[in-house]
Amino acid sequence: MELKDVHVLLNDQPVLRSINFSWAKGKCIAIIGANGAGKTTLLKVISQLIKPASGEIQIAGLNEKEWKRRLGLVFPASFLYEDLTALENLVFYQKLYGQKNEGPLLGLLEEVNLLPVKDEPVHTFSKGMKQRLSIARALVHGPDYLILDEPFDGLDLQSKKTLEYLLEKRRNHGVGYLLVSHDVRHAFELCEKAVLLNSGRIVHEAPCTSEGYIDLMARYSFLLNGESA
Ligand SMILES: Nc1ncnc2c1ncn2[C@@H]1O[C@H](COP(=O)(O)OP(=O)(O)OP(=O)(O)O)[C@@H](O)[C@H]1O
Ligand SMILES: [Mg+2]
Repeated sequence: MELKDVHVLLNDQPVLRSINFSWAKGKCIAIIGANGAGKTTLLKVISQLIKPASGEIQIAGLNEKEWKRRLGLVFPASFLYEDLTALENLVFYQKLYGQKNEGPLLGLLEEVNLLPVKDEPVHTFSKGMKQRLSIARALVHGPDYLILDEPFDGLDLQSKKTLEYLLEKRRNHGVGYLLVSHDVRHAFELCEKAVLLNSGRIVHEAPCTSEGYIDLMARYSFLLNGESA
């Protein structure tokens, strides 16, 4: 998929400016930037949850509906129903995709270590448990493009490992992801390329190598210290 010269306005304010970005199947890209830089907005544009004011979104060979079906979304507002149990939440989403086989759902719950609490209502869950369930929810329909907005946020060390393992397994099967994270070093470990956003613009791109990390961090620190881009 490709964004060409995309501009986004929210409340008449420019939030993304002149974005040129491409994401090929199977590629894992880290999106880095300060609070308010536009990372979540960029993910929402790519997910076609919000429309750009101008510019083009090109998705090779797929219409909007087909594209959305190929996507698994993990956003901080977790799309979970608090009064339903963990399993009922997954069943609900599975039905939206016209499937109804509980077997894979139990496997997913096991992958995120929630099988023992599958029949507990979500409102009894801790923040980390909800986060793990929202990750399972995003995977219900077997998407091959994952949009991950701070998915490690709120996870303890063990849950973090669980998610890393789950992503690695998907990646080995050709699934790609966009990963927003404030832990830049961690994001570099999990991706092959990183882009730095600042005030709605992509200001730097780097391969996820140690040299790429040093270059990107130098640029990022410079920007965080209030210097102009
Ligand atoms: N619904 C909205 N209406 C108006 N402005 C918005 C809206 N959502 C976001 N913004 C503005 O857009 C800018 C980018 O927001 P965005 O949520 O994309 O940032 P972010 O990089 O994800 O930040 P964070 O690291 O805090 O999650 C911010 O200045 C924010 O105030
Ligand atoms: Mg955000």
